[in-house]
Amino acid sequence: DYVKELLDLKNIEEQLEIKLGIGQVNIVPGDSNENPLVKKELGKAAAKVLQRFVNDGDIIAVTGGTTIATIPENLPKLSKNVLVVPGRGALGEKVEIQANTIVAAMATQLGGNYKMLHVPENLSPEAMEKLTEDPKIQEVLQAIRKANILIHGIGDALEMAKRRGTSEENLRLLEKKEAVAEAFGYYFDKDGNIVHQANSVGLRLEDLEKIPLIIAIAGGKDKAKAIKSIAASKKQHILITDEGAALELLKLC
Ligand code: BG6
Repeated sequence: DYVKELLDLKNIEEQLEIKLGIGQVNIVPGDSNENPLVKKELGKAAAKVLQRFVNDGDIIAVTGGTTIATIPENLPKLSKNVLVVPGRGALGEKVEIQANTIVAAMATQLGGNYKMLHVPENLSPEAMEKLTEDPKIQEVLQAIRKANILIHGIGDALEMAKRRGTSEENLRLLEKKEAVAEAFGYYFDKDGNIVHQANSVGLRLEDLEKIPLIIAIAGGKDKAKAIKSIAASKKQHILITDEGAALELLKLC
């Protein structure tokens, strides 16, 4: 907090809460674009927020990504009676940063249980439909839709599409539709409208309306545009970001 005061980050947090219309904005010093250690600070800040809000009986949905992956290692060992589930099925990420992997690590730290969702992203629509009819998969999907806490990352649209090995055709489509942000498999334009959706199952955007606590975590100057777009959808209650993204956001808003 001393460092924050020194850098006047508290003041920027308040400005962004108003400009973005998000109840709570937390900023960690530094820019994760320039210094990878700052991403770990994001994980630390997110772990702190989570500890403050987590209660027995909670169902916590989490997404994948390199940022969210830093949360479990920053959580102490707790004994919470919670269930941790992935927000969506696979989205073409490497195993280390897949939601399923993070879910298991987070549940271990929290002392709770977890359920994984084993639905690959590269199935035909018919196969996807068949698989989601399976009672075991249905059970996980039902738990996901009952989540009362959602923790998700935010990505730059084209970067995420490339990282997921999206086809050239889809990349061109995203460019044409001016997609700037990505979160849990949805792609958004600068005003927060959905312009494309990855082939996956799990949380649908309309499910977010019913989730009382949605925490978004994303940092780095390059993600400012994406964060602004996601904030425009007015669904997040807490944003955890870094100084690099925050200063750029002030310029954009
Ligand atoms: C994905 C999540 O796995 O990671 C997205 O599904 C998020 O919600 C993305 O946009 C962000 O990744 P990173 O590595 O930039 O934290």
